[in-house]
Amino acid sequence: MNELTPKQIVRELNYFVVGQRDAKRAVAIALRNRWRRQQVAEYMRDEIVPNNIILIGSTGVGKTEIARRLANLANAPFMKVEASKFTEVGYVGRDVESIIRDLMDIAVNMVRSKKEEEVIQQAEKLAKEKLLDLLFPVRKQINRKKTPEAEERYHRNRKRLEDKLKKGNFEDRPVELDIPGDSMAQMQVFGPFGMEEIGTNLKDMLSNIMPGQKKRRKLKVKDARKILTDIEAHNLIDQDEVIRMAKESVENNGIVFLDEIDKIAGSNKGVGPDISREGVQRDLLPIIEGSSVPTKYGIVKTDHILFIAAGAFHSSTPSDMIPELQGRFPIRVEMKKLSTNDFIKILTHPKSALIKQYQALLKAEGVVLNFEKTAIRAIAQIATEVNNKTENIGARRLHTIMTTLLDDYLYEQTGKKKQNIVITKNVVKEKLADIANDQDLSRYIL
Ligand SMILES: Nc1ncnc2c1ncn2[C@@H]1O[C@H](COP(=O)(O)OP(=O)(O)OP(=O)(O)O)[C@@H](O)[C@H]1O
Ligand SMILES: [Mg+2]
Repeated sequence: MNELTPKQIVRELNYFVVGQRDAKRAVAIALRNRWRRQQVAEYMRDEIVPNNIILIGSTGVGKTEIARRLANLANAPFMKVEASKFTEVGYVGRDVESIIRDLMDIAVNMVRSKKEEEVIQQAEKLAKEKLLDLLFPVRKQINRKKTPEAEERYHRNRKRLEDKLKKGNFEDRPVELDIPGDSMAQMQVFGPFGMEEIGTNLKDMLSNIMPGQKKRRKLKVKDARKILTDIEAHNLIDQDEVIRMAKESVENNGIVFLDEIDKIAGSNKGVGPDISREGVQRDLLPIIEGSSVPTKYGIVKTDHILFIAAGAFHSSTPSDMIPELQGRFPIRVEMKKLSTNDFIKILTHPKSALIKQYQALLKAEGVVLNFEKTAIRAIAQIATEVNNKTENIGARRLHTIMTTLLDDYLYEQTGKKKQNIVITKNVVKEKLADIANDQDLSRYIL
């Protein structure tokens, strides 16, 4: 899907994100540029560095939302990480290179599942044969007497059993099978909190210690089928090719979304538990500029990975970042403050807009929930008002307002009596006006 034109990308984003035209355009161009670069002659391709972007906008205006939706569109390894997490206590020394290692993991999984799709039918067929072997081991005697009749009888029997297996007659029968150590090592190993690296290392170590080790387990046919299919698919895929493709994909198409970048801007002079923000900026620099990062799949070069950073920049500005880092983000996009009309659209327009969500939730109880147009406008107006009067938390305000507005219905509707609820302007006023008018109250409730 990387062949989407910028206009198409913006159109896709429009399904989810209201307004913010400039930001959508910027990410769309950046995404398209990845593909354009691939078409360029090789000597020049290396020279074309990605135009990293900073999205600047206060909280709740859609920065993370754009990133999330872009991730689904960009058929590319994509990863979102909070820059601030590298300054947290407990993460001290957590090296920023883990971003690239994680991105590489994501890419490997992406390529692998794509390859698996290609071989899944074959793998299922092989798994079915294995299951039949397990369910009905070929008796030695039959093998010894290899007369044509015996052969034929054997095949006839097997066909009959195969049909029964297909019909689901044996699903709960136990079978014993050997599970290779590899697929055991693929099971999650959890490290101590905040130390993912140790987790992965432990996993690597385990698979090194017991390569090819098998474990015999008794499973029901329906569970064994899944494992056998996985094993067969794994065997059908050229794992080296997977890694090669993943690496190429990360190096040329990888996108890292660095959220909360403002939290590492500016130097923290005061003493505190946070480790130096400037230190984190310096750590990030080589990755963004282009360096070679060792991963368990080999060295990954970061020169052409696209970085999209986002931040509210309430108490700092992009110019508070160290100059070298500023220079790596040539494109700055200011996200707009959301208006009442934007709120109306956010409530109703996106594929799973808030109103649609609550309608779906109450539908589960057999309740039909409807909003009059004027009621939606009233909700949006209250959101704007409260944002102006207290803290501006953007579209997140709609969440708090909707939960307050619908609280009674969500509590009382339990599927006992089917009914229609219509939210009118008056209902909105009745439930929210008092709270919205009282600054102290709304500070707590909305
Ligand atoms: N422009 C928008 N269009 C549609 N939904 C939006 C928009 N802006 C915000 N929202 C909604 O508001 C919520 C918060 O938005 P988002 O997570 O993108 O905020 P943010 O800009 O990343 O804020 P922060 O700086 O706090 O991280 C999301 O759940 C999203 O549904
Ligand atoms: Mg965010």
